[in-house]
Amino acid sequence: MSVFTMRLLAGISAALAFLLVFYSFEFPPVDSVQRGYRGLAMEEISNPRVDRAKVRANVLPEAAPPTDKAGQKASSVYTNLKVLGDMDANELLRLMTDMTTWVSPEQGCAYCHDENDLAADRPYTKIVSRRMLEMVRYINGSWKTHVVDTGVTCWACHRGQPVPANVWYADSPRTAQGAAGNLAGQNVASAAGGLTALPVDPFTPFIKDGKEIRVQSGTALPGTSRVSIKQTEWTYSLMMHISKGLGVNCTYCHNSRDFFGWNESTPQRLTAWHGIRLVRDINTQFLEPLTPVFPASRLGPTGDVAKVNCATCHEGVAKPLNGVSMIKDYPVLVGPAPARTASAAPVGAK
Ligand code: HEC
Ligand code: HEC
Ligand code: HEC
Ligand code: HEC
Repeated sequence: MSVFTMRLLAGISAALAFLLVFYSFEFPPVDSVQRGYRGLAMEEISNPRVDRAKVRANVLPEAAPPTDKAGQKASSVYTNLKVLGDMDANELLRLMTDMTTWVSPEQGCAYCHDENDLAADRPYTKIVSRRMLEMVRYINGSWKTHVVDTGVTCWACHRGQPVPANVWYADSPRTAQGAAGNLAGQNVASAAGGLTALPVDPFTPFIKDGKEIRVQSGTALPGTSRVSIKQTEWTYSLMMHISKGLGVNCTYCHNSRDFFGWNESTPQRLTAWHGIRLVRDINTQFLEPLTPVFPASRLGPTGDVAKVNCATCHEGVAKPLNGVSMIKDYPVLVGPAPARTASAAPVGAK
């Protein structure tokens, strides 16, 4: 290799290294908002340039224009309605148009319908959608502790795609070569754990199995409440997911001198607490039972269905779509009032 080529290569590598470093940082100025008492570092740091991109990515598509009422129930016009039978027949078609915008704008009605027979329960996507309609009504009617009157439609998760951008599957057990041995579900950079070596899948223990999200033991002596190092690592991994999913710092919810204490946490932590239960609830009641309906190509490495986590609805902002109400034009998507109150008080609440 000539001296010239070597210098050229060195020059190119230096330029690449510079670009890599240059584009790895966010540039000042950043905004900071104080969210707790003075001197506690409870500040929310945000970068207006990053936020602008998030605003663009979180808009509600225009609803289909309102229609005149048919004056007839949809069930008297159509033959196979199990959820939407009570709505006005014309409004049903309007909702179908919006559902197409929300879930399958490129594929159209045919994504969920046999176009020769709209009443037929095929393809499988129609069966899934019917259950999704029930799920949305249930979330809006029974989980006001989390979604209040802002609510959700299919758009909250789907954003114009049949498969939402943020879903999770159980991690398949992996092993490393040689001395590293069993990776124990961690030690590889994972999106959930914020690209750290924290556990790859904090969702199975906390969202699926409902384990306690704890670092601090409730008792002084071991025995009654065993909080393992693994559980601590899972907790931190889940918290990284929550922060990233909502685009906020830990101090949006916690006073970091006491992560455990509810009396020093912000009100948003309580909303998040209900959010964790909401996610558990819809994954177990709606998504998991749909597993046999999905084709194998849609299932994860261990044969489980794609499931919801915080990022599925939040997409990087503290309130999905920055708090714009999704259900104001769709009263039919709010289910009956809750038959039971959501859950007991959070552990440690005063
Ligand atoms: C994302 C899935 C999805 C898309 C896209 C969709 N539909 Fe539907 N459609 C459904 C589901 C689910 C039902 C059944 C609802 C129920 O059981 O109450 C239904 C029912 C219907 C019915 C009633 C059929 C009957 O006789 O029972 C009609 C008509 C209909 N859709 C028309 C349309 C049209 C027109 C489009 C396109 C503009 C469309 N749909 C797009 C999921 C979809
Ligand atoms: C809370 C989030 C969430 C909401 C709200 C939601 N979905 Fe889904 N949806 C999912 C997840 C997760 C899947 C599983 C992804 C997959 O298909 O593997 C899914 C799958 C689907 C599929 C199957 C797509 C495919 O190609 O396999 C259809 C169709 C669908 N949803 C329609 C709807 C409709 C219609 C609504 C509104 C009535 C809706 N969804 C609301 C989360 C959501
Ligand atoms: C959006 C609100 C929110 C954000 C942001 C958040 N947390 Fe949490 N955190 C919670 C909630 C809610 C719980 C309690 C979960 C439960 O009991 O089910 C919790 C629990 C914890 C615990 C367990 C405390 C105990 O009881 O032992 C630790 C530690 C923790 N969080 C650390 C963090 C860290 C570190 C971050 C930032 C990477 C963070 N959290 C970001 C809401 C949040
Ligand atoms: C089904 C969709 C959905 C899922 C899944 C979801 N959220 Fe939410 N969340 C919402 C909606 C809608 C709001 C807005 C409510 C409002 O307008 O106050 C919200 C609001 C919040 C807020 C209040 C923000 C603020 O500034 O007041 C927090 C905190 C939060 N969610 C945390 C979580 C966490 C943590 C998870 C995962 C465990 C989660 N959410 C999962 C839909 C969802």
